[in-house]
Amino acid sequence: MPASDPTFKITPSTTRLAAAEREKELKAIQFGRVFTDHMAVVNYRNGTWQDGEVKAYAAIPLSPAASVLHYGQAIFEGFKAYRQPDGSVSMFRPDENWNRFNRSARRLAMPAIPKDLFIGASEALVAIDEAWVPSGPGESLYLRPFMIATDPYLGVRPSETYMFLVIASPAGEYFPQGLKPVSVWVSKDYVRAAPGGTGEAKCAGNYAASLLAQAEAKDQGCDQVIWLDAIEREIIEEMGGMNLFFVYRQHGEPVVVTPALTGTLLAGITRSTLLDLAADLGLKAEERRLRLTDVLQDIASGAISEVFACGTAAVITPVGEIKGRGFAQVVNDGGNGPVAMALRDALLGIQRGTAPDKHGWMHAV
Ligand code: PLP
Ligand code: COI
Repeated sequence: MPASDPTFKITPSTTRLAAAEREKELKAIQFGRVFTDHMAVVNYRNGTWQDGEVKAYAAIPLSPAASVLHYGQAIFEGFKAYRQPDGSVSMFRPDENWNRFNRSARRLAMPAIPKDLFIGASEALVAIDEAWVPSGPGESLYLRPFMIATDPYLGVRPSETYMFLVIASPAGEYFPQGLKPVSVWVSKDYVRAAPGGTGEAKCAGNYAASLLAQAEAKDQGCDQVIWLDAIEREIIEEMGGMNLFFVYRQHGEPVVVTPALTGTLLAGITRSTLLDLAADLGLKAEERRLRLTDVLQDIASGAISEVFACGTAAVITPVGEIKGRGFAQVVNDGGNGPVAMALRDALLGIQRGTAPDKHGWMHAV
């Protein structure tokens, strides 16, 4: 397979949804429930990536002994394609997702994928399923590239064969309640990631390990979990599928602060984008260690005026309340804050093509 010039055999689906049905789906989008007509598939064997195919979205053949099912060699990414004002479609920073995908692959002892293959597969899928890209405010086509280990072998070692796929799903708001502040539960009983572990990889196992705490959060009436560090159980890391920002007031001026990348949290692409956008908006931005006790005190005293979460799926979502065993702290009277909303508008403006893309983040399909 020539890395610089991947080929995708295009086999159009014969079971495509009729336009009327598709339009119906696009009128009531729920995150991650409906998939477009096609998927991209590329196999890896004999030490090389093979030519890819874009074909009808369907179940994939997998041996019950496939190592992904037993030992969890599985990684994924998530990025979005947006309808532009001229009707064209552009993807947001897919090269960053490709970079992170290969870092995750390395941590899970999986093969790296050439950039042209990763982006080419996504482009080919968006091109054939272009009619699925919605155009409403806050809407996009969510792309989910992933790789799984396919060797039918029960020995514990890296697989020698893999399947890389891209599927796509129209996306609106990630949280069913729309753009309303979420309440978050601080998990002290469970940890997401330890130093030297897989915390900064986007691997399936991290999400499996988070579900029990997420269920606990739901039981406590919260929408999401805040993860703390594994050692002190005091340093704020991130949420289940989002990074966190805190807006401090220093001499009356807002300063946006996000937990430093310690190797145990995901290096979010939205997080890094917001650090750049904050500078564009003339806001000071910092990355540093944040202790839960200090943060709770600073919210109570008004030194922190806003808390918000950010990620591809969730965009920017304000946090209205932080709860844990023995405490509950309301943030910003439980409302949407001006800094979060200004950053959200700046980000969505670039993604939707209504604001200039001066950083060159958009990738036309
Ligand atoms: N943290 C976790 C655990 C995530 O799953 C995600 C989502 O991808 C993020 C943070 C945010 O990352 P990004 O902004 O690249 O979507
Ligand atoms: C994303 O924002 O892309 C995520 O992966 C978060 C979640 C859906 C797992």
